[in-house]
Amino acid sequence: MKLNGTMRINENGHLEIGGCDTVELAWEFGTPLYVLDEMCFRQNCRDYNQAFSEKYRAGVIYAGKTLLNLAVCRMVDEEGLGLDVVSGGELFTALKAGFPAERIYFHGNNKSPAELAMAIESGVGCFMVDNICELELLSRLAGEYGRVPGVILRVTPGIEAHTHEYIKTGQIDSKFGLVIENGQALGGVKRSLELENLHFKGLHCHIGSQIFELESYRHAAGVMMDFVNQLHEETGARVEELDLGGGLGVYYTEGDQPRAVKEYADVLAGAVQEKAEQYRIQAPRLLVEPGRSISGPAGTTLYTVGAIKEIPGIRKYLAVDGGMGDNPRPALYQARYEAYLAGKMECPPAELVSVAGKCCESGDMLIWDAELPEAEPGDILAVSCTGAYNYSMSMNYNRLPRPAMILVRGGCAELITRRESYEDLIMNDLIPERLTKKANT
Ligand code: LLP
Repeated sequence: MKLNGTMRINENGHLEIGGCDTVELAWEFGTPLYVLDEMCFRQNCRDYNQAFSEKYRAGVIYAGKTLLNLAVCRMVDEEGLGLDVVSGGELFTALKAGFPAERIYFHGNNKSPAELAMAIESGVGCFMVDNICELELLSRLAGEYGRVPGVILRVTPGIEAHTHEYIKTGQIDSKFGLVIENGQALGGVKRSLELENLHFKGLHCHIGSQIFELESYRHAAGVMMDFVNQLHEETGARVEELDLGGGLGVYYTEGDQPRAVKEYADVLAGAVQEKAEQYRIQAPRLLVEPGRSISGPAGTTLYTVGAIKEIPGIRKYLAVDGGMGDNPRPALYQARYEAYLAGKMECPPAELVSVAGKCCESGDMLIWDAELPEAEPGDILAVSCTGAYNYSMSMNYNRLPRPAMILVRGGCAELITRRESYEDLIMNDLIPERLTKKANT
């Protein structure tokens, strides 16, 4: 059991988050329910600020794809981080929340002309440009608006990081970024230097997500700095900023051993500095884009246990009132999670059960083989570390409404995304005239 952030077991033997009893939260707000621990989220932002910004003057850009709504934007703004958005929808959310446009970084491998125009118009600070098509398009649009946006070019350093290993690959085969090895990245930099409407600021890479091995980062930073030096020698271009992406792993289940943010910072900054000294060039300013390691541990999902079914000699299924609709990660990536019975935190584990979702899909299993106290219908099941890539990847399969999200802190719980209603589900449905009567009968 790993209790994240402000999680603790209270005097009733219940799981408490942000000073709120989760059994009471479930009763008050209904389930499934996303619970976001404000102090945990903010502390994770502060750990990054301390380790990167204060120590190395590096920039920390929160990856909004992990979890984004208006309240999250406000917290990220208050904590002073930048914000990485990857779509018009994420950008719209950030702007509506009043997030300062100059601290927004626009990512994505196929930004549409409309998305780019929206970003230029609203004064987005920097564009992470993925390919030459985008470079040309951005330059043209920037010219039309009379702006000169900052550009960071995404490149692939040829390192593929895995959870427990890293390997050098035929990096040419990626939908993201321009390949260093075959000269495309160099061509991209040269082109961005030629385009008058763009201000070339630097380079970006992202080697993967849920990474524990800092060696992969040291390697990536080194390859990127080799390229920085090559650019310097061949084009005279100065790389002001070097963005090494996100990816730091978090604890989901036993065996996951996350590295401390400050260790991560020391490795990245150290590798950049070392190469800068070796090449006798000025070290670029470091940027990082953490997502999961900020939002992941701050989230917990509460479910109500419904049907319980035992297949003698085979397995016992606990079905809950959510599943792949609110957390598609187990179905998509065989991701593993830990769960607790929120009202029975002091009861010893009594049985091995598997937690099933309620979608019409055999693959809708949240957890295989969890050791839990004996469960009964009506118990509240808490799945931890669901802050990242859960709400942001949620869907309406089987027309299940998306859960609500609440922000908890100091014993106070506030709704930050309301639960979808059945009315919301049909909000965009239209009935052609000729079908109207039928639908009404
Ligand atoms: N920067 C870039 C360019 C990225 O592509 C990503 C994640 C991040 C930063 C943030 O990485 P993080 O710190 O969260 O690892 N849906 C998958 C993960 C996809 C990662 C997408 N990119 C999952 O649920 O595991």
